[in-house]
Amino acid sequence: MNNVREPIIIIIEHGGVPSVITTYQNEYRNLMALISDKIYLECFGECKGMGRCGTCLVEIIESDEQLTNIERNEQATISKLGIHAPGLRLACQLLIDNTLNGCKIRIAASMA
Ligand code: FES
Repeated sequence: MNNVREPIIIIIEHGGVPSVITTYQNEYRNLMALISDKIYLECFGECKGMGRCGTCLVEIIESDEQLTNIERNEQATISKLGIHAPGLRLACQLLIDNTLNGCKIRIAASMA
């Protein structure tokens, strides 16, 4: 059994400023929790991950994996925001695992 935790490196852009964040699988409940901890953002993740408020909106700018495959309830929440752009996701619906490694994400909550 391999107990070595592989780092997961994510570039998170906010206000035009990129931050390189290193985390590990399941270190945080989801990407919303990680962003809330690492980057101070007022009014981010207001429904605490229920997928209803849309305040944790992010845009996947670059990724190796198909992070843009989106489940119906998440799509409905994003649609209610009236924002249409490719790669939009709710950070609370993205688990911290290797699919996030090397990806670039822009915090889009201010678009809402
Ligand atoms: S925290 Fe509310 S939708 Fe993600």
